[in-house]
Amino acid sequence: MSYILGIETSCDETAAAVVAGGERLLSNVVSSQIATHQPYGGVVPELASREHLRAIVPVVRQALTEADQSYESIDAIAVTQGPGLAGALLVGISYAKALAFALEKPLITVNHLEGHIHAVLLEEKQKGNFQIDFPLLALVVSGGHTHLFLAEERAQGWRYSNIGRTRDDAAGEAYDKVAKLLGLGYPGGPVIDALARHGNPRAVKFIPSQIKHSNRGTPKAEQTPYDFSFSGIKTAVLRYVELEGMRDSVATRRQALAAMARPSAEDVRALSDKKTLDLVASFQRAVVEDLVGKTLEAAGERGARTLFVTGGVAANSELREKFTLEAAKAGLPVYVPSRKLSTDNASMIAAAAFPNLQAGEFAGADFSAEASLALR
Ligand code: KG4
Ligand code: ZN
Repeated sequence: MSYILGIETSCDETAAAVVAGGERLLSNVVSSQIATHQPYGGVVPELASREHLRAIVPVVRQALTEADQSYESIDAIAVTQGPGLAGALLVGISYAKALAFALEKPLITVNHLEGHIHAVLLEEKQKGNFQIDFPLLALVVSGGHTHLFLAEERAQGWRYSNIGRTRDDAAGEAYDKVAKLLGLGYPGGPVIDALARHGNPRAVKFIPSQIKHSNRGTPKAEQTPYDFSFSGIKTAVLRYVELEGMRDSVATRRQALAAMARPSAEDVRALSDKKTLDLVASFQRAVVEDLVGKTLEAAGERGARTLFVTGGVAANSELREKFTLEAAKAGLPVYVPSRKLSTDNASMIAAAAFPNLQAGEFAGADFSAEASLALR
């Protein structure tokens, strides 16, 4: 049995994990920086690097201890090379290189997006499900990405084509920005997810052009029917707040929450009137319908036989329910990781590195962070 230590520092979580044989999760340690970035309502790159530096050594040590492993007993080290914040990625990469050099262990670089896709596979393997039909369509939807990848299985591993991406904001970014402008706190996804349940999703009508990018005027061959756009809906929410005179209530809520140490979703709900709950529910409905609609359309037209939904936003309850429902109607199996493996973690990095370990594909010492590394 081979043991891979995975290291992930691409954004605001310092994570380490040990995965055995590419399919058995032995430990999965995630140190979140939410408290650091909360006052700014978004990730501050300089602070992220500093926090990674502080956390990386204890996080790796804890992952080894919990897996009953040592620096000596692991077979390889896998690290996220990109995409992500360059300074944040560099912390993980430098540490992984130093470890690999000192321990004389092979080093494997992993694309963060492939990691998210492998989080799904890892969990299915743990459940004993090894039968995945290709081509597979994966929606990777997080704070930094909204991508559709069509994956094929080849002898050398999976090959990806990126058939859709966001033109502007990622879906998770839209959640975070809408939460910020409504004074709901950070990160926005979990709190909007919780509040939306109490609002009327049909109360505010967002028009399709606020959420769809336009192919108008583009020659047919160059049209990108599965691209996303989420910056328009954020502006529409802002306009609604102005028009409906919600500014003062937003400011009051923001102040009240700032005075609380760790406000829960219930605290936020108690500070939100019906108008706010309806707006949040309508926003979520529009985003979820767009994500599910475009993914299923792409799956149908490109002949996908399996769907994967992964990344931080895959933790969203309405998105999970809607995907389950619509994929069943289309007769497609859909796999979504547990919430813990949907958001950033290192077990997905260790799992994605397993085929490279088997094939003896290792990184030299001269690679660096790739902030916009593409997945192919
Ligand atoms: O994958 P992730 O941990 O980091 C990135 O690679 O970006 O995703 C974080 C994003 C944040 O934007 C957060 O608001 C969103 O995922 N998120 C959610 C939920 N939980 C986290 N969005 C919607 N509903 C949720 N339950
Ligand atoms: Zn991610």
